[in-house]
Amino acid sequence: MSAEPVLDVVGLHAAYGSTPVLRGIDMHLGKGEIVSLIGRNGVGKTTTMRCLIGLVRATAGHIRLRGQAITHLPPADRARLGIGYIPQGRQVFPRMTVEENLRVSQLAGGKSDPQMMERVFAYFPILKERRRQSAGTLSGGEQQQLAIGRAMVGNPLLLLLDEPSEGIQPSIVRMICEALKSIRDQLGVTILFVEQNLDTIMEISERCYVADKGTIVAEIGRQELHTSEAVRRHLLI
Ligand SMILES: Nc1ncnc2c1ncn2[C@@H]1O[C@H](COP(=O)(O)OP(=O)(O)O)[C@@H](O)[C@H]1O
Ligand SMILES: [Mg+2]
Repeated sequence: MSAEPVLDVVGLHAAYGSTPVLRGIDMHLGKGEIVSLIGRNGVGKTTTMRCLIGLVRATAGHIRLRGQAITHLPPADRARLGIGYIPQGRQVFPRMTVEENLRVSQLAGGKSDPQMMERVFAYFPILKERRRQSAGTLSGGEQQQLAIGRAMVGNPLLLLLDEPSEGIQPSIVRMICEALKSIRDQLGVTILFVEQNLDTIMEISERCYVADKGTIVAEIGRQELHTSEAVRRHLLI
């Protein structure tokens, strides 16, 4: 890979109690890449994301962000170093307004960019329209845009998204995919996303890692991604 390295994951292991879940995850992402992590239910995709942001402890292996070891840093430090995390199910604060949700992230971020709020509104105009509305009243697609917006105010260099298309209608998913591509093109942000939706995987991934039983069992390159066969086979659709 010629691009400057952003995320290097080597031999990552993790467990819930005494049950091993990750058994050696290896992934490498260069600056500005959009890469998906796919695999059937229960293979460890969400656990991988939680381990990358520091919500699950790595029991072995290494995580490096732009060459810096972050394997044992707490989540807030990883966020400050430039990882934005959009969890599965979005998890916005339902009783706060859209604007309050964004401000809370800005306060928590430490190194926030004052213009980022306006930039978030430029990528997701519906959030500006709804900025005084409580987040719990937004549609699933709008909440997903807010969750991405919240991660963006911290000015991340790497975005981790866990099933961004889940429960969202296809036209809104396409719009969110376009926004993610612009975020990459204009800001140089690297994107790793977990996905099960074939259309979304095909629409924006440039490369794809396949997880099974806590390890990466295959990598699907740009060429192979042109046909959905390989992806379909690994998702067993
Ligand atoms: N908080 C938890 N405590 C115990 N086991 C869990 C927990 N979360 C997930 N698991 C188990 O870990 C495995 C991997 O789960 P997960 O990472 O959520 O998979 P995926 O996102 O690929 O569907 C599954 O067997 C799941 O039941
Ligand atoms: Mg999951």
